[in-house]
Amino acid sequence: MSEDQNPSGNGKGQTREQHIHRAEGGNKNPYQNPDGGVTTTGHVWDDDLADFANQPPRWWMLALTASAIWVVAYWLYYPSVPVPSSNTYFKGVGGWTAIKEMEADKGEVDAVRGKYEARIKNMAPAAILADSDLTEYVKRSGKVLFGDNCAPCHGTNGVGTRDKEGLVAPILDDDDWLYGGRIDDIYTTISGGRQGMMSAHKDSLSAQQIDDVALYVKAMSDEGKDKADADSAGAAGRKVFMESDCTACHGADARGIQAMGSANLTDKVWRFDGSLEGIKQTITYGVNSGDSKTRVAIMPSFTQAGKLSDADIKKLAVYVYKFGGGQPDTPAVPAQAVTAAPASKAR
Ligand code: HEC
Ligand code: HEC
Repeated sequence: MSEDQNPSGNGKGQTREQHIHRAEGGNKNPYQNPDGGVTTTGHVWDDDLADFANQPPRWWMLALTASAIWVVAYWLYYPSVPVPSSNTYFKGVGGWTAIKEMEADKGEVDAVRGKYEARIKNMAPAAILADSDLTEYVKRSGKVLFGDNCAPCHGTNGVGTRDKEGLVAPILDDDDWLYGGRIDDIYTTISGGRQGMMSAHKDSLSAQQIDDVALYVKAMSDEGKDKADADSAGAAGRKVFMESDCTACHGADARGIQAMGSANLTDKVWRFDGSLEGIKQTITYGVNSGDSKTRVAIMPSFTQAGKLSDADIKKLAVYVYKFGGGQPDTPAVPAQAVTAAPASKAR
């Protein structure tokens, strides 16, 4: 507002500049505005900007005082000031250390986990699986264990990882099992490790025989076993399969034998390269056969490696089972019912 608009020059109508000029007029406080206007510090800059000299509000002064007291208390309670030249520091009257605090926090976590962990320690894997509380706990806490120890070979969540030879390790989230998908099978696999062995056939079979049997194996997977058997084109290969050593390990039905970890050759699941060339390579050089061109398939023993406690292995067994491929145990009921139970099906 300009002076013209407020000729009386009184009160709030004034510009700030006028305030200041007037205040210089011989009052005790040279900055006190004689007409009761706002008091300033007398410091003017940019022609018309001035500081008010108001007292800070009461609440603000109280907060300032309180925080000053707080600072002193805080400094006394916690480790704070370095003691010069003595290479130490004032340790605080509260006895606080970062390590003690961490241990207290860890104690809280352990108390929650502890009651689960203590039970798991003394329970068989099947019993853990039967307890829904514990299973839920394992599903949560097993993630890190699996990620650290298993995912490098089996992939995140057991989906598998591949290299040029095929899968690095079997997929774990399907219901196709080399060594069995019952909880105890899985536990045994993890604790003891597995190493399937298939001999090389480069000396025991001719190149022609290998070609024939590879074609037959591929046909069993592509068309199903019944069709492959009926097809006269596969007869030569079938003969090799039945008369050489294949049935000893893969079974006469070619569906694999769990005790040996031999693959089911009639399904569409290929652990190694499933092309005709790939199948020939597997048959020629074998798996873990000792041949220099062998395919390698080694599941390490986690008990032997000492990397995991027995409780951890039990947790992982339940965790893997719960990927969805786990198979129920054959119920302990009369033989008749057992045959009817699909759970006893191999692989
Ligand atoms: C160095 C790679 C590697 C690591 C690490 C590894 N595995 Fe394996 N795992 C394998 C291979 C290879 C096989 C297949 C062995 C065979 O074919 O004889 C296998 C097989 C298995 C099987 C059996 C699958 C079936 O079809 O029967 C399970 C279960 C299994 N692993 C679980 C685990 C768990 C759980 C961990 C982590 C504690 C783990 N593996 C860590 C390589 C690995
Ligand atoms: C000494 C036991 C043994 C004999 C004999 C054997 N196999 Fe195998 N075979 C295995 C095992 C164990 C595996 C699975 C390896 C693995 O995945 O760890 C396998 C895997 C295979 C595979 C690869 C399957 C896949 O999913 O990639 C083919 C193909 C195969 N065998 C064909 C044959 C044929 C054909 C014969 C006969 C000429 C034969 N095997 C003889 C044990 C044997």
